[in-house]
Amino acid sequence: MSTRHFLTLLDLSPDELGGLIKRAIELKASHAAGKHDETCKHRVLAMVFEKSSTRTRMSFEVGMAQLGGHAIFLSPRDTQLGRGETIEDSARVLSRMSDVITIRTYEHEKIERFANYSAVPIINALTDMYHPCQLLADMQTWYEQRGDMRGKTVAWIGDGNNMCHSYINAARRFDFKLHIACPKGYEPDQVILDAAGPHAVITDTATDAAAGADLVVTDVWASMGQEEEQAKREKAFADYQVDTNVMEAAATDALFMHCLPAHRGEEVAADVIDGPRSVVWDEAENRLHAQKALLEFLLGA
Ligand code: CP
Ligand code: NVA
Repeated sequence: MSTRHFLTLLDLSPDELGGLIKRAIELKASHAAGKHDETCKHRVLAMVFEKSSTRTRMSFEVGMAQLGGHAIFLSPRDTQLGRGETIEDSARVLSRMSDVITIRTYEHEKIERFANYSAVPIINALTDMYHPCQLLADMQTWYEQRGDMRGKTVAWIGDGNNMCHSYINAARRFDFKLHIACPKGYEPDQVILDAAGPHAVITDTATDAAAGADLVVTDVWASMGQEEEQAKREKAFADYQVDTNVMEAAATDALFMHCLPAHRGEEVAADVIDGPRSVVWDEAENRLHAQKALLEFLLGA
């Protein structure tokens, strides 16, 4: 069988994704009960990170340690990848010494090239186009709080970025409806949107997107690599803050999620992210449990 990768959510079937969420919840309970699930003993995860990270790095390293394996963090500052060794050569070498590899980089095409030359599974730890690992944690968090995602309505408010693209794919895989509100010029990729058909629609305003929604989600206005656009984006996104008005338009029991890091007073008001509907800390913690389930799955453990 050919090597399975996790470059986008579409690499896994709805059943496989559902199974991962279930296993993540089991692993979380097992860890809380003080059990040791050493299903990845002696397995090695190589972690290539070309962008900063707190949650993704921590959750993969801790996850691998808890599963009895080992993780090696590789920054371009100290590897030959940062000095121009090709992706193809790096992929062949790293995959001969490790069992699974996570990559956080800029162009999505780079991770696809890496996967083409890797003998072991590649996990997308974020590219400019997608952040599928975050969606595993978000879907786990939803499941823990409210059960099945099928038929629910999610409002995405803000940038049509990597997280928005992953929410569009999640709408297809988990069978929910995504209402997207973005300023003009910051919409998601048209090809990704079109492929989702009726699962994802663009609305005019933030409150239109939030109307009746079961879950409201946002993300930073300027992603990693867009730091110079911060001032321009603050103007463009001024009407797209998730504040109490937006949350009031949503269903009365609506939840709020944000992948973090957050900028209070920009994409989200402090009283929303720090308020009673926010589940961002569970969401962050679930990165650990969901990725442990993903590692087990890809390693056949
Ligand atoms: N949400 C997320 O991926 O956070 P980090 O950038 O800290 O990894
Ligand atoms: N859209 C953000 C997500 C960070 C986890 C970024 O790419 O910087």
